[in-house]
Amino acid sequence: MAVLHFPPGFLWGVATSAQQIEGAHDQGGRGESVWDRYASTPENIEDRSTPFRACDHYHRWPEDLRLLGELGVGAYRFSTSWSRIMPDGRTVNQAGLDFYEALVDALLAAGIQPCLTLNHWDMPQAFMDEHGGWAGRETVQRFVDYAAATAHRLGDRVRHWTTHNEPWCVAHLGYEQGRHAPGLRDPNAALRAAHHLLLSHGRATAALRGTVHQPEVGIVLNLSPAHPASDSEADVEAARQFDGFFNRWYLDALFRGQYPDDAVADRVARGHLADDAMPFVQPGDMDDIAAPMDWLGVNYYSRTVLAADSEGRPDAAPPVPADQLTEMGWEVYPAGLEEILRRVDREYGPLPLYVTENGAAFVDPPAVDGRIADPRRVSYFREHLAAVHRAVTAGVSLQGYFAWSLLDNFEWGHGYTKRFGLYGVDFETGERMPKDSALLYRDIVGSNAVDDGR
Ligand code: FCB
Repeated sequence: MAVLHFPPGFLWGVATSAQQIEGAHDQGGRGESVWDRYASTPENIEDRSTPFRACDHYHRWPEDLRLLGELGVGAYRFSTSWSRIMPDGRTVNQAGLDFYEALVDALLAAGIQPCLTLNHWDMPQAFMDEHGGWAGRETVQRFVDYAAATAHRLGDRVRHWTTHNEPWCVAHLGYEQGRHAPGLRDPNAALRAAHHLLLSHGRATAALRGTVHQPEVGIVLNLSPAHPASDSEADVEAARQFDGFFNRWYLDALFRGQYPDDAVADRVARGHLADDAMPFVQPGDMDDIAAPMDWLGVNYYSRTVLAADSEGRPDAAPPVPADQLTEMGWEVYPAGLEEILRRVDREYGPLPLYVTENGAAFVDPPAVDGRIADPRRVSYFREHLAAVHRAVTAGVSLQGYFAWSLLDNFEWGHGYTKRFGLYGVDFETGERMPKDSALLYRDIVGSNAVDDGR
């Protein structure tokens, strides 16, 4: 067995998001979010549940803070709920800010660095009704106002700010595939949404820099290595298309100030764009988007293997053996994490990187003697951290790692059926219960090292 040591000062954390854990959807002045509305149509959520109560973190947060203390983490990545801070999208709700201020103060008192994400998907529903949510350019300024209001209250204490979590998911799962809120199926609206998300990132970054004391501002992308299912020309081409659309669309815009020509041409060929002029991109936008940031967050769950369908478009690849899949149907592929970190560092860096999410859903057995045995999640973390360690050894400037997630929670369109927590949650009673992976993670954090299990 090899024990792999991380560099001194490496930041260990766990991550959550407001909509997935808070509940209290109509308390403390909170307004309706797009996810509240989307989940109100029972067919949209696998188990016909809602996020209205979730983990009830809004009431139980002191207990959750104790769990963070048990783990010994140096940082906690959480999100503020836009619809709690600006219920109607415009007016600031001081009670919403009070909630996050209490949390931030308690984290700091416990020696845990707060890492705050402004948009983990719960935009006020009012924007859908007023201007089509992210598909409308008006939302850009609304987001900047929200960032400024939040920073005005918390910017003296929170240094580490994330504008958006996974803009690809917001834009394409939400506006193109209809699998996330707001549930639209309009590819052109998705491209506009993606642009407005990126533009608001750049402009909010400028606003945060003006307000936050010693700001460290970044964005979090979901990145996935695109591998062809075979070396046939068609499959290699399918992988290029996926990579352009999923990874490079965001990376190139943020770091090079342009959308990749090949990926734009693909969208035109598909009829998602009338031509490559993209009228929603106005003069100056790309410079705003490419404003320098302090770090980039990478969320990694799996690679994507692509085969060409009969029309040459990227399609799901041949199935992977079931024992290599998580409950999400995602292949367990640790080498992809090393690959994507090295690639970002090589092609877009060097710049400080964080793994801002990584984790796995598995079916967990009932607790025995107050503990849940989750050997597959334990292996998942060991293997992925060994991959992270290889990237660090190769010279990638990785500053920290956040496990997804502290708690089992509302997993979006899957409701409560998919469990990612280090702590299990009984959604009837609200009780939290450690899994073996929580104990593993506590040891990793405590020793700043992982035993790769081999
Ligand atoms: C990511 C999301 C996070 C969680 C994990 C499993 O895409 O950022 O909220 O749902 O997937």
